[in-house]
This record gives sequence, structure tokens and C-alpha cells, in this order.
Amino acid sequence: MEIIVNTEAKCKIIIRRGQVKDDKLPEGFVITDTNLYHYYKDLISSENYIIKAGEESKSLENYFKILNNVNRDTIVAFGGGVTGDLAGFIASTYKRGINLIQVPTSLVAMTDSSIGGKNGVNLGEKKNYVGTIYQPALILIDPELLKTLPEKEFKNGLAEVIKYGHLFGSPSLKLVSSKNLSDEDIEKIIIECCKNKVKIVEKDQFDKGYRHILNFGHTVGHAIEILYNLSHGEAISIGMIKELEIGNRLGIIDKKQIENLKNALVSVGLPIELPKDLDVDKVLKIMKSDKKGKFKFAFDEKNYDYYVEEETVRECLK
Ligand SMILES: NC(=O)c1ccc[n+]([C@@H]2O[C@H](COP(=O)([O-])OP(=O)(O)OC[C@H]3O[C@@H](n4cnc5c(N)ncnc54)[C@H](O)[C@@H]3O)[C@@H](O)[C@H]2O)c1
Ligand SMILES: [Zn+2]
Repeated sequence: MEIIVNTEAKCKIIIRRGQVKDDKLPEGFVITDTNLYHYYKDLISSENYIIKAGEESKSLENYFKILNNVNRDTIVAFGGGVTGDLAGFIASTYKRGINLIQVPTSLVAMTDSSIGGKNGVNLGEKKNYVGTIYQPALILIDPELLKTLPEKEFKNGLAEVIKYGHLFGSPSLKLVSSKNLSDEDIEKIIIECCKNKVKIVEKDQFDKGYRHILNFGHTVGHAIEILYNLSHGEAISIGMIKELEIGNRLGIIDKKQIENLKNALVSVGLPIELPKDLDVDKVLKIMKSDKKGKFKFAFDEKNYDYYVEEETVRECLK
């Protein structure tokens, strides 16, 4: 399966089981993390740089370190979203931009982060504050690589998959809820998410409006993720439900949509309730500082830059 992303720098996505696992990575300067290196070192034949697995590696420090090691005209990002975001930023700035190939290995990266060109690193606590939008030339998706992805990380990915399901009424939402996902189901889900992401990127490559739709679940989600030490998937799972309840109060979202989403999230073991000891003031403060003093939400395809009064948000979080 091939999908072309029609941005001015054309990008090709190839989705095929085994294309990396049973072969080798493309030639280039490979950036990967310690976990991937552990499982797949045999696939790497060219120069490489291995970062420590984890979000902390998305740092300016690593950015500078790696820049000083690059010795090829192609960067190959082999890993999850952390590796992809860091490697993409390096490729986009080294010599004012060199060839970039994304080889995503996590469900998050295969369905979302490797597509669309957003890259970057964190500036201390500030997530994704430094980066560019720079399209890879090629994205190689090999679902076989998911076989080594830890269950917990797979679940994080499913939260984002379910997000697409709500936003675009995708048929795969039903698949996600089925007890055991077969290899074929997973491929269907990946293809569907890729198509949705491509549609968003083609409409709004530079994140000026429509692409904000992907923030659904993330306004509340991001705040509780930081405060309650939740995984990103858990946080946006709860965030999506709370945001739909806010949307319901505003008359945008109907109860049936909330029920559907709750069922899908619960069926894969994701949480939907806020922490019992929630400090509403603290959560509101983070949500506000994140959005320049206002509460902005994305609910669906029509309402993705929607401002909501503090009182309404507070009521729904209580
Ligand atoms: N650029 C974008 O558009 C975009 C979109 C969504 C998320 N992101 C970013 O992506 C990051 C999250 O992505 P993620 O969840 O992939 O994080 P990650 O890269 O940290 O991967 C999660 C964990 O899974 C391990 N892993 C990945 N693939 C594996 C495999 N096949 N086998 C064994 N272990 C594997 C990694 O080593 C890591 O420990 C965040 O930094 C987020 O900001 C970016
Ligand atoms: Zn997310």
C-alpha cells in the first residue's frame, strides 16, 4: 500500500509488513534509541547514533551532539515519536535541510507522528517549543516492528487511534474494541489513520487552523498528564471524555458520541475518569497558561478552534 502526501515537497508512505524487519534499513545516518538498537541492531548497516530511550532525549543537548556527528546526506529516523521528532529537526536544519526518511516503530509514530513533517525538541519543561515543519521524502511503515513494542506503549497508541475514530467516524473504531486485534486488523487501522492524517496535513500543512483538530483531548489531557504523572495515552483518554462533556454542555456534541467513545476506550483498558483528588484550580491554571490565558478546544471537524468560558470548563471538571 502506498500513499502520496501532496505537499509541495512530495512524500511517499509505504506500508508493507516485513519491508524493514526482513530486510535492512535504508542507507543513511541512522538515528535510533537504545531499545530499538537492542532489538534490531542487525538491520542497521550504516553510520548511526543511539539516543537513550525516553522523552528526555528530545533535547537541544542531543540535537547539538548529533549535528556534530552527521556525515551523510540522508537521515534515517528509526524509532518512535521521540526519535522521529529529534531526527526530523536535525534533517531540516543540517546544511539547511537534507533528505529525511522516517521509519516509525511505535503505534503513535506509525499512525501519527512520522507523517506531516512536524518535528522538534523540548525546551526544558516546555514540550516541542523548538522545531520546524519539514516533510520527509519517504516513510516506511512495517507493522511487523510492533511485535516488540511494549503493551503499555501500544495502548498509548490506541488512545490516539481512537481519537481519529471519533474525529472522522472511522470504521476501525469498531475493530479497536474487538478483543484480539489480528495482524490484519492492525494494518487496517494503520492505513486508515495514515489516510486521515494525510488529509489533515494536505489541508493545513503549516498548522494554521484545520490541523488544530488533532488537539482534541489534549487541552485537558496535557494538564492532567503533567500533574498526575499519567502516560500520554491515559491522559488524553480521560481528556477526550471530559472535553466531549464540555462540548455536550455547549450543544455541539450529543450523548451518543460520548457513549461510543467511552465504550471504545474502556474496551482497550484506557481510563475515562479524572483522578479522585483532582485539583481543579491547578488543572485550569495549566490549561490556561498553555493557551495564552484562554480555554481553546477542538471538538470535531467543524469546531476545532473553539473558545470556552472558564465557568463551563470548571463545572465539567468538578
Ligand atoms: N511530530 C508529530 O506530529 C507528533 C505527533 C504525536 C506525538 N509526537 C511526539 O511523539 C512522542 C511520543 O511518541 P512515542 O509514543 O512513539 O514515544 P517514544 O519514541 O518514546 O517510544 C515509546 C517507547 O517505545 C519504545 N519503542 C518504540 N518502538 C518500539 C519497538 N518497535 N519495539 C520496542 N520498543 C519500541 C521506545 O524505545 C520508547 O521506550 C512525543 O515526544 C510526542 O511529542 C509527535
Ligand atoms: Zn497526543
